[in-house]
Amino acid sequence: MRIDLEKLQEFENTIDTIQPERGKVPIKILGYGEISLVFELANDDQPIAYKRLPIFDSETQVNRHILAYDIYHQILQRLHLIVPAHDAIWVQSQKGNIVLYCAQEKIPVETVGHKILHHSISKKEIHTLILLIMREMHKIWAFSHRSKTLKVGLDGQISNWAVIGYNPQNPHISEDDQLIYLDTSTPMFRKQGIEAMEPILFLKSAPFFLRWLLKALFLKEVVDRYYDWRLVTIDLVANFFKEQRPELIPGVLKVINDFFSEEAVEFDIIPLTYEEVKKYYDEDKQIWVIFQNTRHLDRYIQTKLLRKQYDFYLPGMIQR
Ligand SMILES: Nc1ncnc2c1ncn2[C@@H]1O[C@H](COP(=O)(O)OP(=O)(O)O)[C@@H](O)[C@H]1O
Ligand SMILES: [Mg+2]
Repeated sequence: MRIDLEKLQEFENTIDTIQPERGKVPIKILGYGEISLVFELANDDQPIAYKRLPIFDSETQVNRHILAYDIYHQILQRLHLIVPAHDAIWVQSQKGNIVLYCAQEKIPVETVGHKILHHSISKKEIHTLILLIMREMHKIWAFSHRSKTLKVGLDGQISNWAVIGYNPQNPHISEDDQLIYLDTSTPMFRKQGIEAMEPILFLKSAPFFLRWLLKALFLKEVVDRYYDWRLVTIDLVANFFKEQRPELIPGVLKVINDFFSEEAVEFDIIPLTYEEVKKYYDEDKQIWVIFQNTRHLDRYIQTKLLRKQYDFYLPGMIQR
């Protein structure tokens, strides 16, 4: 993968974190998750998706993260998941902060799961997409179930999966289709109980005055849930609320509960209910709304009152 280091450094030097598409180096935003920005450099000859992570305090910390990122890819591939070609590189900002750029081969945006939900595609094919996601996750949890020393986790959200070869002009999904897993920059595995990624990094983009509070209240719970297949699946189903397609949930739950009782019966997973997904979603939404509001307040304090640069890009309020 050919990363244009010079251009990235220039991008970092001249970044406009409030309106990143208006900075000196032109970029195009490909998507954003809850805390990150994914973009491509305009006019890149080989399109690469970059994720900017300005959360590291030291070289040791960023190097540990890059190592975990590499190993996580190896683990996923060994478990027969498909992941994009990847690379990672860090630069120093002009303030001296370490900023990591995770690079991936760019995947056509319209082939990512949350986009597919809005295409004119049949209910049955959406069920097939969910079944394919469950089968990918089965590989992970079957392994973790067996292994005494290595536990692997994953973020199963619909926006983390793309359908290879999917054509939005003629949208179809069959059981023979293959998925690619995108969200590899949060390496989730534990060796002998030790988390590969420094858990505090999950919170690094939280405002400073919230960090200690979140750490005390949620951190263990937040990280743990990515290792629990049932909870990861509830999170996946809750995405249908976020994507404004709640009418699909009963059918999706049937697919998932049938899958658990047939293809993954050895896990003894208690069937998921609509009510618990709704409750989870409402609680999750509250936490994120508080989190996002506080970050906007934090940015105001940092930039307007303290006249500092704010290191993060904040997406506009995500509609839920
Ligand atoms: N390699 C890629 N090619 C194209 N789009 C991507 C790629 N990786 C991520 N994206 C887009 O950015 C969004 C967020 O990326 P993701 O890795 O899931 O980050 P997060 O950890 O913030 O959820 C994805 O849902 C997708 O729409
Ligand atoms: Mg994601």
